[in-house]
Amino acid sequence: MLRRGRFERAMDPLASEYISSMDADARIFYSVVQVNLAHIIMLAERRIITEQDAAAILRALYELHERGVEGLDLRPELEDIHMAVEEFVIKATSEEVGGKLNTAKSRNDQVATAIRLTLRKGLFDVEERLLELVGALVALAEKNTDVIMPGYTHLQVAQPTTFAHWLTAHASAILRDVERIERAYDAANSCPMGACALAGTSFSIDRMRVAHMLGFKRIDENAMDAISSRDFALESMSSLAIAMVNLSRLAEELMLWGSAEFDMIELPEEFAATSSIMPQKKNPVVAELARAKAGRVFGNLSGALAVMKALPQSYNLDLQDLTPSLWNSVDETRDSAGVMAKLICAIEPNRETMRKRAEGGFAAATELADTLVRKVGLAFRDAHAIVGKMVARATNEGRGPGELNIEDLQAASKEVLNKEVHLKPEELKEALDLDKCIAVRDLPGGPAPKAVQGQLKTLKQDVKNHAKLMHARRRAITKAEMKLLKEARRRSR
Ligand code: ARG
Repeated sequence: MLRRGRFERAMDPLASEYISSMDADARIFYSVVQVNLAHIIMLAERRIITEQDAAAILRALYELHERGVEGLDLRPELEDIHMAVEEFVIKATSEEVGGKLNTAKSRNDQVATAIRLTLRKGLFDVEERLLELVGALVALAEKNTDVIMPGYTHLQVAQPTTFAHWLTAHASAILRDVERIERAYDAANSCPMGACALAGTSFSIDRMRVAHMLGFKRIDENAMDAISSRDFALESMSSLAIAMVNLSRLAEELMLWGSAEFDMIELPEEFAATSSIMPQKKNPVVAELARAKAGRVFGNLSGALAVMKALPQSYNLDLQDLTPSLWNSVDETRDSAGVMAKLICAIEPNRETMRKRAEGGFAAATELADTLVRKVGLAFRDAHAIVGKMVARATNEGRGPGELNIEDLQAASKEVLNKEVHLKPEELKEALDLDKCIAVRDLPGGPAPKAVQGQLKTLKQDVKNHAKLMHARRRAITKAEMKLLKEARRRSR
């Protein structure tokens, strides 16, 4: 259909298969139909085409919308869905009428617009799952504010914290992912239609009207930029990549804590698989794949950056090849967040082991040094050296943290300061008490149950607010869609 003017011969079948985006285009089907509906309504309003022609075209488009993508012939010779839609409309009307569909538009502005329409909804779905995950982390944290676990730095026991504090740390990070995705949504929420191939058109179209019918906030103004830029997609892909960093870190820790070596959580059977040869195995396959999918989503971003980096203005077919990576990033992130949310709901902490691991690692050492500062008036650096010596002395003698004693303190202080430093036995005991260590860390953001409850309260409110914003945006878009379809219906009668 397209080639009959410029060319005499059909495209080589291998070449046409190679350049076609038909397979990936099914994803944008409804968006493409919507863009066409809005465009035709605008053309009629501006008297660029007659009401009658518009009615016939709208009837065909509406029918196509009803039939869904199955209503289209997607053979690759047509190149892409934009041509398939045009062909459908021409067949349903006539060459003369349907041939007007592409007046004052191009596939370039159409595809850029359709991607944004589809992406907006995809981002809602991702956001929804991420909010579910934050909700699941918060709910589990609420039940475990008093469950002591070791906090690690360098994967070595560092200081005591709680399971709830650890869960809240992940929830806080994932909430920022939600915020980033909302910003990426804003970047995608502007309309390229009217940019045509790259330089707009001499027809007196109304770009704003089309943008509004499609529920966009604004037009993507510069026509050349509108059709040739995909930084809105890069923003989405990078916010999705960062979300996968956070999901993957969570997955990694779940695998560690669930291993027999740490044994701090019980991995739910429903999210594990076994081995075909080793009958004892309980493999954390869901978390493993979430970790792997992160790699894919990063790959999508770096691939897309590479596609864009040397593209001259304006449209190049390279852009077509970026779109499937965008959808893959949306899908993988949405599905990873969804399954991780369910997995988190099913997790049980092993309280005793968690506490044992914290005790075994001298997690209270910092608190003991702080106690020496407060009770004895030592400089922190001296207290730090003394406690270090105490730990070394006990370790050398094969004693654990519960067995640090006053003699250790005296010997260590003599060695470090050349004088004996005194604490009452009960002061030493209190400093080493993990529950006390936690209880006194009640500053904002700290692990004390009260402090964590405060963080959880804020997080719950945040989840509510973001869900509210997301639903309001979704509603506005659905409303625009319904209105557009209704208007198309009305005009096609
Ligand atoms: N299939 C193309 C894409 O996905 C649509 C635009 C094609 N434009 C063109 N001038 N060949 O980007």
